[in-house]
Amino acid sequence: MTDAIQIEQERGLLTLRLNRPDKKNALTRAMYSRLAEALKQADADPEVNAVLITGSSDCFTAGNDIADFLQEPPSGLDSPVFQFMLTLLDCRKPVIAAVAGAAVGIGTTLLLHCDLVYVSRDARLRMPFVNLGLCPEFASSLLLPRLLGHAKAAELLLLGEGFSGEQAATWGIATEALGSGEAALAKAREVALRFESLPPEAVRISKQLMKAPDREQLRKVIEEEGALFVQRLRSPEAVAALSGFINRH
Ligand code: COA
Repeated sequence: MTDAIQIEQERGLLTLRLNRPDKKNALTRAMYSRLAEALKQADADPEVNAVLITGSSDCFTAGNDIADFLQEPPSGLDSPVFQFMLTLLDCRKPVIAAVAGAAVGIGTTLLLHCDLVYVSRDARLRMPFVNLGLCPEFASSLLLPRLLGHAKAAELLLLGEGFSGEQAATWGIATEALGSGEAALAKAREVALRFESLPPEAVRISKQLMKAPDREQLRKVIEEEGALFVQRLRSPEAVAALSGFINRH
């Protein structure tokens, strides 16, 4: 079986590639654990200057594996998905994301916690939590209204409307939108490799200064949303919607 998370290190750049093409890179518990472990190691390794999170040039990720949501739903902060996202929140090194194709659910949410995000113009981002009987996660209920204003964020979080990579860049969710998936991945890699020649301590201190003012509030919101999300996963609304996806054929 091929590795669903491919990890490569080159010139101070650690690349974490989501690689489960038959399931549109949907994230399982094992994949979150691997991502969390790799991020922790990257944070501690003086040889690593930056981390790149990517999928393929036509799919980032379809979000959390829906079968996992039904069979082994996260139960709290020690669950793999929380471990991954809290590690991302605390990561002291720059994290760059390259996004093409679908970026659903956590595939969009995690971008809010990266430092630089390159998307293809036609990438399809969406947070269909409400449609699945769930609620926003990982501080998206705080960060999206802040970025977009309540009325626009409500379209994304209360209606679950999708949006393009181009819109993501216009709204400040992404750094830049590129003409194709290949171009987005290439640009993200080129930018991520630039950290090789920047003074690492200055980069870390600068990121810390940008992130520190919000850290406690983000953590608190993540815990509040997380507790509700875990409850919602067991609700009849969510079980019906998630089972509907699994049994759709
Ligand atoms: N969890 C588990 N399996 C998933 C999945 C997910 N989140 N997303 C896709 N898959 C699986 C499909 O079941 C299908 O598997 P199969 O071939 O064994 O039937 C395979 O991946 C391909 O998916 P498909 O829907 O046929 O691809 P598509 O290109 O038509 O659509 C998406 C891609 C991402 C738009 C669509 O798969 C989708 O909406 N997925 C669910 C996204 C979601 O709601 N995520 C959870 C958010 S909280």
